[in-house]
Amino acid sequence: MFRSLRILLSSEIAQVSCIRTKASMAKPVVATSNGGGLKSHQIFDREDKYGAHNYHPLPVALCRGKGVYVWDVEGRKYYDFLSAYSAVNQGHCHPRILDALKDQAEVLTLTSRAFYSDVLGEYEEYITKLFGYDKVLPMNTGVEGGETACKLARKWGYMKKGIPADQAKIVFVEGNFWGRTLSAISTSTDPSSYEGFGPFMPGFKIIPYDDLNALEEATKDPTVCAFMVEPIQGEAGVVVPHHGYLKGVRDICTKNNVLFIADEVQTGLARTGKRLACDHENVRPDILILGKALSGGVFPVSAVLADDPVMLCIKPGEHGSTYGGNPLACKVAMAALEVMEEEKLAENAQFLGEFLRQELSKLPPQVVRLVRGKGLLNAIVINQEFDAWDLCVRLKENGLLAKPTHGDIIRLAPPLVINKQQIDEAVQIIGETMQSLLC
Ligand SMILES: Cc1ncc(COP(=O)(O)O)c(C=O)c1O
Repeated sequence: MFRSLRILLSSEIAQVSCIRTKASMAKPVVATSNGGGLKSHQIFDREDKYGAHNYHPLPVALCRGKGVYVWDVEGRKYYDFLSAYSAVNQGHCHPRILDALKDQAEVLTLTSRAFYSDVLGEYEEYITKLFGYDKVLPMNTGVEGGETACKLARKWGYMKKGIPADQAKIVFVEGNFWGRTLSAISTSTDPSSYEGFGPFMPGFKIIPYDDLNALEEATKDPTVCAFMVEPIQGEAGVVVPHHGYLKGVRDICTKNNVLFIADEVQTGLARTGKRLACDHENVRPDILILGKALSGGVFPVSAVLADDPVMLCIKPGEHGSTYGGNPLACKVAMAALEVMEEEKLAENAQFLGEFLRQELSKLPPQVVRLVRGKGLLNAIVINQEFDAWDLCVRLKENGLLAKPTHGDIIRLAPPLVINKQQIDEAVQIIGETMQSLLC
């Protein structure tokens, strides 16, 4: 035994020394920053070569952002009409949010939740009072917020509703999008999200969106603990339900003792013209998920809010995240929320959203089939003979960045710090670009 161990050790040493030799022969790896002045096409090629191909970006290489504008490496300036999927509601590099980031970064960035920090409680008090909930559970990405909400709902279902062990169901709607984890794609009805990634998470039921009868039917099942829904479906192409849907959802969930989970990761934080999209119908979800603009686009910060009877179902050790609630995130989120409140971003989104849709409805009907949205979360649906990708490439060439979704839909969601004159100019760019398609 001793002999074989010695043989094993010497072969291992041989392997290690071989690796060392290879490593020492390799050239040092130096990051090529754009101090070297890479051109756009070189940046595309480098990402293509070294990065996974899980995105299909528009061909533009950005290096700077300020307010509603971004610049590419050749110095061209663009209107940002995507706002990083509504994460940059406060505008790029908002000075107040950056100050909060810088100040806190010099003091304390991460403690983990193994210890208390002098910032977490301040943030928890601020955000819970702002949104009117007993408690908050801080996470990082939006999808983690959704996962947290699902775990909370299941736990509540077993502890409070009396659902037999491992039988809890959560109802979702067709066209939902809440991220890319296995749970999230297990609820997806979009083959490009779920195909090839099975087996899927059990315990989810899918019903049509904007259909209160279907919800009523589904929630009669006593093993249903929650209904999770976006008040407006963002990734599905800005699908706005009928007015009264959210009120109906609230009533049905209350009647059938089912938690109403609102995924406001994209619609929340002033995007639709109110602080929350649920505010348009004055409804209060049992569990509220926020993300994206909670950090003003600085880094991932998400939050799940609920009252004690739900939130206290989760006990120490049952859920968490190393970075969730870190001091840097707390300071950044407070600054991002203060900007939203003090700069009246919801009011601006409400007012300019109406103006934008009114102007968009004057665009050539040969190209635009439909304009829809709320606040500054809008989309145009284009006629089938035109290609949304091609239109977005032309818009880019004319100084406006937007991204197509589902082939014929273009989302138009600028930062909420935009003003009327900038909307005017952007609509002019969109109009001229469409005219160029007709020539
Ligand atoms: C409604 C909604 N929920 C959740 C998510 C997931 O957020 P993240 O990409 O930060 O995980 C998204 C992302 O687009 C979203 O639109």
